[in-house]
Amino acid sequence: MPRTDNDSWDITESVGATALGVAAARAAETESENPIINDPFARVFVDAAGPGMWTVMANPALAAQLADSEPDARARMQVMVDFMAVRTVFFDEFFLNAADAGVRQVVILAAGLDSRAWRLPWPAGTTVYELDQPKVLEFKSTTMQQRGARPAASLVSIPVDLRQDWPKALQQKGFDPTKPTAWSAEGLLRYLPASAQDVLFERIHALSAQGSWVAANAPGKDFLNPERVARQREQMNRLRTAAARMLKTEVPNLEELWYPEERTDVADWLTDHGWDASVTTLEEMLARYRRGVSDENLIPPTVLVSAHRSSG
Ligand SMILES: C[S@@+](CC[C@H](N)C(=O)[O-])C[C@H]1O[C@@H](n2cnc3c(N)ncnc32)[C@H](O)[C@@H]1O
Repeated sequence: MPRTDNDSWDITESVGATALGVAAARAAETESENPIINDPFARVFVDAAGPGMWTVMANPALAAQLADSEPDARARMQVMVDFMAVRTVFFDEFFLNAADAGVRQVVILAAGLDSRAWRLPWPAGTTVYELDQPKVLEFKSTTMQQRGARPAASLVSIPVDLRQDWPKALQQKGFDPTKPTAWSAEGLLRYLPASAQDVLFERIHALSAQGSWVAANAPGKDFLNPERVARQREQMNRLRTAAARMLKTEVPNLEELWYPEERTDVADWLTDHGWDASVTTLEEMLARYRRGVSDENLIPPTVLVSAHRSSG
């Protein structure tokens, strides 16, 4: 279903299901032969959600069955797993570096099924704020409680829509803008209208004391290239049709969830506002972890940005 300004969702619906897709990729990577991440909670979330499109990536037998009927499927799913694996490493390292630098206040925007509050070795005295839609956070906390999992930091959940006044909700729950913060926006920006992305970074900037850090992944320059979009659409539609036939259920069209709009360049914006920003491309991350990709066209144009605010 197309997006609307005030839409909301549960974990298996609309944008919520994308968090399950990421968890499925993390589960597949964690259980692979040479994993570069270890996220034991990813499998727990996928299993708790029950069957859906996410089950395919997390289940090698189903993935093989899909690849039998749609030969592109194997390569496309492997790129997704590799993408999520290197992205996870990037954000893990970002947070560990910020913690080493003394940051004890962490805000995970669009936390989805990110399990960092449970699995990273946070220094004593760290508070992690997680923001996402109410039903997404409800599913997450219920699943973690049923599993008996305990957060490794002081965890504060903030059920809120990131197009609304989330800074108010954050501060009401104890966030202190005078302390340095490490912020992440992982897998979020293309689900926001371009104007909402601008407001998001203005708000992050306004709440960031000197010594703060921010990391985000963002669509790369070629993302809206019409030929690339058409090629991706054709491949995704074939995959969707094959998956729907195999699962005997409707498979949502991911493209309907994105806002395909020209956007402010995140690194340029941060630099203009006094942050020291650095950019790594997804290709560079894949090469760093020796994840060869059979067809470069399968790699979504993506940049990973991290920045430190030392002045400004
Ligand atoms: C692709 S998932 C990424 C989740 C998580 N960051 C990760 O990498 O595992 C996108 C997440 O963004 C959240 N999200 C997207 N738009 C949002 C909004 N307007 N308000 C709150 N959450 C939002 C979704 O609910 C979902 O959990």
